[in-house]
Amino acid sequence: MLILDHLSQRFSVPGGSVQALAPVSLMVARGEFVSIVGPSGCGKTTLLHLIAGLVTPTQGTVSLEGVPIQKPQKQIGLVFQKSNLMPWRTVRENIALPLELDQVPMTERRDRADIVIARLGLKGFEDAFPSQLSGGMAGRVAIGRALIQQPQILLLDEPFGALDALTRESMQLELLRLWDSGELSMAIMVTHSITEAVFLADRVVVMSPRPGQIQAIIPVELPRPRHLEMVHSSAFGTLASQVRRHIEAH
Ligand SMILES: Nc1ncnc2c1ncn2[C@@H]1O[C@H](COP(=O)(O)OP(=O)(O)OP(=O)(O)O)[C@@H](O)[C@H]1O
Ligand SMILES: [Mg+2]
Repeated sequence: MLILDHLSQRFSVPGGSVQALAPVSLMVARGEFVSIVGPSGCGKTTLLHLIAGLVTPTQGTVSLEGVPIQKPQKQIGLVFQKSNLMPWRTVRENIALPLELDQVPMTERRDRADIVIARLGLKGFEDAFPSQLSGGMAGRVAIGRALIQQPQILLLDEPFGALDALTRESMQLELLRLWDSGELSMAIMVTHSITEAVFLADRVVVMSPRPGQIQAIIPVELPRPRHLEMVHSSAFGTLASQVRRHIEAH
């Protein structure tokens, strides 16, 4: 179980400080996929960075199975909002980067990267550079880099935001396949798309404008595996309008 306990974040900026995140408390159980939606600047990225242990909270704690998270952990993989691929590194080298930083020997790095590459449908592009990839492929490389350490928890920060509608749909299905494979025990995804939030998650967390607070949590009781046709069902429509109402309440 992941527990966020009165987590808040204030950043110093020239001439003062910004309250990026108001106290947020949330429990995420094993086996849960949670989506987070909320207006731009409400602290969603900050929240993921706090969960990933990249930033120390001003107040409150993050703990996983009762152990506080105070620095980055292998069991937590993060797909950044900006995919941060290194243009001078190949697909394989980008995906293997966390292993390199961890001083894993070269042959093991290569083998493990190639497994991830095959899973994500990037076979044949091992030696390509980011500039030679489509947006969807670059997105998969960013996800591959988060998966290479075999995390239990995957954090995704608007991973498909820059993609066209069709590519985005196919990436959502790939993410669902990964989720259904049972390798991950928790996923938390930030998105601006209400449809995407409902389609993928077991719960949708709606945040208020900055400083972000949890405004509503909407359980999504749609069966799994999820199919694209579900998006057109009346149950789906009801959930999506519920989420929209909470977003528009401000
Ligand atoms: N390192 C930082 N230093 C100062 N202020 C920051 C820092 N990081 C974030 N902020 C501020 O905190 C607030 C929340 O930022 P954050 O990036 O978490 O929002 P967000 O919800 O992810 O927005 P978006 O949907 O646009 O990605 C913003 O006002 C931002 O300017
Ligand atoms: Mg953000």
